[in-house]
Amino acid sequence: MIKTVKGCKDIYGREMELFQYIENVLSKMAESYGYTKIITPIIEYSELFQRSVGEDTDIVEKEMYTFQDKGGRSLTLRPEITASVARSYVENHFETLPAPLRKYYIGPCFRYEKPQKGRYREFYQFGVEAIGDISPLIDAEVISLAYNIAKQFSLKNIKVRLNSIGCRKCRPHYKEALKEALKPHYEELCSDCKRRFYTNPLRILDCKKESKELKESLPKITDYLCDECRNHFDKVKEYLSLMNIPFELDHTLVRGLDYYTKTVFEVISTDLGAQNALLGGGRYDYLIEELGGRPVPAVGFAMGMERLMTILKAENKIVRKDPVIYIAYQKEALKEAIEIANKLRGEGFITLLDIKGGSFKKQFERSSKRNASYTVIIGEEEKEKNTVQVKNMKTKEQKEIPKGEIVTFLKEWRKNA
Ligand code: HAM
Repeated sequence: MIKTVKGCKDIYGREMELFQYIENVLSKMAESYGYTKIITPIIEYSELFQRSVGEDTDIVEKEMYTFQDKGGRSLTLRPEITASVARSYVENHFETLPAPLRKYYIGPCFRYEKPQKGRYREFYQFGVEAIGDISPLIDAEVISLAYNIAKQFSLKNIKVRLNSIGCRKCRPHYKEALKEALKPHYEELCSDCKRRFYTNPLRILDCKKESKELKESLPKITDYLCDECRNHFDKVKEYLSLMNIPFELDHTLVRGLDYYTKTVFEVISTDLGAQNALLGGGRYDYLIEELGGRPVPAVGFAMGMERLMTILKAENKIVRKDPVIYIAYQKEALKEAIEIANKLRGEGFITLLDIKGGSFKKQFERSSKRNASYTVIIGEEEKEKNTVQVKNMKTKEQKEIPKGEIVTFLKEWRKNA
């Protein structure tokens, strides 16, 4: 038997219902903030991620699905979507559109990580990117969208973590101070952090292997911000308070991708276990420029759809299912049955026309198995009278109505159901 690739899975049944439901809600929410959808290819030139996510990150060092195509070009299955949106911005000259450009996306991403609860090799991200504005108000607006998503799904055990990691001007000073403070502890560091000490010391702050005491003893980046970054961060906090969004400052929050500047944030949930980040994001003011565009500031976030589904399942959120209407008929009335089925489908009802035929008893059994709310019955007699029988499958109540009234009848019932 051929199985799914390790860390990948099929989505179907109840999972699919939940997936479609959250996809709908997320799209509507993003659209209510003025975001429009973008679809970018799943494969990109590897260089895109090397240059944006960064050579010294776990993603680029260890986790990318990279291969050569038949023309010898190095391609990668996208590990995230921000880089692709930034590439698209430059390639399609989105700078000519009104700023900030607001785009959202939903699609699969691939990371060669060790699969565990909440961590897959293929997973779906929903994300938003607001490109072209430096104002801290847009940072706050993006964070408010992230927070309101959690509110919309009535998630209980969530927290917004917030930090600023400065810019090209101030971060190098902090890096030096951090390395100075880490030097006496170098031998205690884990093997990854020993390497990070030279390549990417900020990542030591969010390494799960290093002790809390060590991290707390280290200098805080917010004490090293330049005036511009400090003012920006103060304003972000001010706007978040204005929007009634609770947040916690966390100086160990640095994020695992290299393109971030200034604001970084995550929404975490205690329902998630070790992989507790529901979503993460921040500002990336140099990325567009590094990909060959003009210097254009930007901010965004992405959320793991599977992680949201895990929380919804843990909190026992019930997804309301659309009702199913089943059509049972005698073979003499097949034409009328098909006509009714098409009419109901046109009105947005999920309509199942019985396929096998046979006795009404058998057809009712099949209707029950499909959890139909109503069965519409049309036999020879009803055909003659131009009527149908409608049977409420829950109460078992059955009545005869004129065929032409079926849509009004079911719509009325759906409205009150
Ligand atoms: P990220 O933190 O790498 O950020 O990923 C965002 C979210 O994707 C995570 O919070 C998590 O919910 C989900 N995720 C990541 N890896 C996995 C995995 N292996 N399995 C399941 N879920 C996963 C980014 O990707 C940035 N592009 C976010 C961003 C957008 N920043 C600015 N704009």
